Amino acid sequence: MISYPRLQAIVAAVRQKTSFVPHTALVLGSGLGGFGEKISLEAAVPYAELPGFPISTVPGHQGRFLFGYVEEEPVVVMQGRVHYYEGYSMEEVVLPLRVMAALGARRLVLTNAAGGIDPAFHPGDLMVLTDHIASFVPSPLIGPNVDALGPRFPDMTEVYSLRLREKLHAAGTKLGIPLQEGIYLQTTGPQYETPAEIRLYRSLGASAVGMSTACEAIAARHLGLEVCGISCITNLAAGLGGKPLSHQEVQETADQAAQRFQSLVWELLSTIEA
Ligand code: HPA
Repeated sequence: MISYPRLQAIVAAVRQKTSFVPHTALVLGSGLGGFGEKISLEAAVPYAELPGFPISTVPGHQGRFLFGYVEEEPVVVMQGRVHYYEGYSMEEVVLPLRVMAALGARRLVLTNAAGGIDPAFHPGDLMVLTDHIASFVPSPLIGPNVDALGPRFPDMTEVYSLRLREKLHAAGTKLGIPLQEGIYLQTTGPQYETPAEIRLYRSLGASAVGMSTACEAIAARHLGLEVCGISCITNLAAGLGGKPLSHQEVQETADQAAQRFQSLVWELLSTIEA
């Protein structure tokens, strides 16, 4: 169990370095790391400088908070996230977004790389999350509830805000970027799925599968944040593409989609205020 004092200590440590107040928080998944270079930067805080902060061990994931502006919008960007499969508890996985909320963020944009299950999906597609299935991973809210953060039994009827989904579709239309929509299913990883697991997930209604995001969305809704999620479909899920999956393929497809992905997120953030 992450203690509330630990969260407050990390928030205080960030506040020693910057007084910037973000309105929107953004978590960058594979391939989107370059987005950080585009914002007009006010401050950068490496996770390593924050005592007790979980640090990513995955190649391709940098570890720092960036504070700055996307057009008029004050944002905090997580360049690099930690995953449950790295051995962190779910509470630690969601700690960074609780920090960003404590710093002022009222909205959270989650991005990730995912395997496509929906037969209409192709590698390189971008998918707007409409909902998720988190039943195969532990809840980040297990343990004593911290009432200062949110309620014991938070509602999850509309995890991914309809308002933000509509903004994403408007951004896609404006930029000429076609968007898919679907349900994201989170697994623990780190192994990719078997073809039998993918058939199971498909029968359950999943459109895409990945190893992050749903737990973060749950913790964010617990805090009452407005949430949206976008997946870059980097590969067809196991058994659907006729070849083994590799992290290299995931990274290469994410890199190829990076320009589109970044433009979409930029447009969303520049229009995100209600
Ligand atoms: N499965 C799980 N996670 C992933 C995948 C996948 O096929 N592709 C990218 N992240």
